[in-house]
Amino acid sequence: MLPDAFFPPTTPASFSRTDFGADFQWGVSAAAYQTEGAWNLDGKGPSIWDDFVRRPGRIKRAETAEVATDFYHRWPQDLDLIHQMGIDNFRFSIAWSRIMPHGLGVFNQKGIDYYDRLVDGCLERGITPWPTLYHWDLPAALQQLGGWTNRDVVGWFTDYTQRVAARLGDRVQHWMVLNEPMVFTGAGHLLGIHAPGRRSLGAFLAATHHAALAQAEGGRVLRAILPAGAQIGTTFSCSYVTPWRPNHARDARATRRADALLNRLFVEPALGLGYPVADVPLLGWMDRYIKPGDEQRLPFDFDFLGVQNYTREVVRHSPYVPLLWASLVGAAPRGVPHTDMGWEVYPESLYQMVKQFGSYPNAPILRVTENGAAFPDTRTADGHVHDAQRQAYLRACIGQVLRARREGVRVDGYFAWSFTDNFEWAEGYGPRFGLVHVEYETQRRTIKDSGHWYSEFLGGKPTSS
Ligand code: NOJ
Repeated sequence: MLPDAFFPPTTPASFSRTDFGADFQWGVSAAAYQTEGAWNLDGKGPSIWDDFVRRPGRIKRAETAEVATDFYHRWPQDLDLIHQMGIDNFRFSIAWSRIMPHGLGVFNQKGIDYYDRLVDGCLERGITPWPTLYHWDLPAALQQLGGWTNRDVVGWFTDYTQRVAARLGDRVQHWMVLNEPMVFTGAGHLLGIHAPGRRSLGAFLAATHHAALAQAEGGRVLRAILPAGAQIGTTFSCSYVTPWRPNHARDARATRRADALLNRLFVEPALGLGYPVADVPLLGWMDRYIKPGDEQRLPFDFDFLGVQNYTREVVRHSPYVPLLWASLVGAAPRGVPHTDMGWEVYPESLYQMVKQFGSYPNAPILRVTENGAAFPDTRTADGHVHDAQRQAYLRACIGQVLRARREGVRVDGYFAWSFTDNFEWAEGYGPRFGLVHVEYETQRRTIKDSGHWYSEFLGGKPTSS
């Protein structure tokens, strides 16, 4: 018996794919560094993650993604599996340092050829490709020049974007510029737990402004190159935030700050609303990185926003956490059900976040470009992976998307994270998010029960709690 947290009473009791309409896009997501392996093959240059994983103590069990799920070699079989599961859309990312080993200048033909084959491989199987241009793997050579803290990164990024779009734009219609900028700026430059491992408020603020500029400029470059009708999006991490103590003024203020940082920092400049400085006064220090004219460059008319949600956060006031003036109260201390990442099982967070993003007056269409959960899966002797928790979680989250749609929110896509188990950044291979299990010693793929369920759901089978 699973805990009640997996079955919010607000989830529709029974629903099927048809309730979402024929235009709703269903897919699975993945990312280059987490799956490809082949870290130095065919002319690829190192990325900041290739460097970071080699630093002692940074990654659990000192694991690296040198091989990962070997997607670089196994993509044909993996795409066959996606097709076999009846999944129409595949989101993956492009590794900048495969295309440009030094980040700028030299162009690596073999690198772009690989993505060219991958795109064709998708199309041949009737799978729509959804590439993301930047999923955290900055070319290491650019880090030598300051990486995201160097304002020139905006130009480096748009050059790279231009090259990729020029080559793939005739066949790829759905693009995403950045993956979760708040995570690569915050975890990478302030907390130091992701590459490049910086711990500096200045680095965080500089990286934030440059990433927000790159988000919009990347969109403009794509718009200029791609044929009419192409859809350009970008993706945001987000978590519904609630106060630890109800009716507690300081917790309420801390919750607003956490919301501004976790959920609004990148979407609001993109929508022309500027940075949420009123709720996080420290962001005012960003002024030193903002040049005349930048304000006009921050907005871009995205065709869709990618919403990526895994949990909610409960926030309490704390005088010791200067930037947030808030601290996040973990799921374990609260004694609530949580995943292998320690994240509370709270499917209604997804509903709340699509409502919140959808409530911006000029919000474009939303698509859930990631949602999922890590649980300790094991393959049984008879070749099954019984992941009832993931299945229940995904079902509840999909039901929460339907709930939001029924209330008029314009959300028309859902991509599960992730297609296969993969390298979960600083956590290494421990947390398993896949619909498909990977046995890393042999690279054997096994569709988990949740994968079979998703496949049947996409095939039209109704689902009931
Ligand atoms: C969001 C990131 O985009 C992805 O790379 C990561 O694996 C998942 N969250 C789970 O943490």
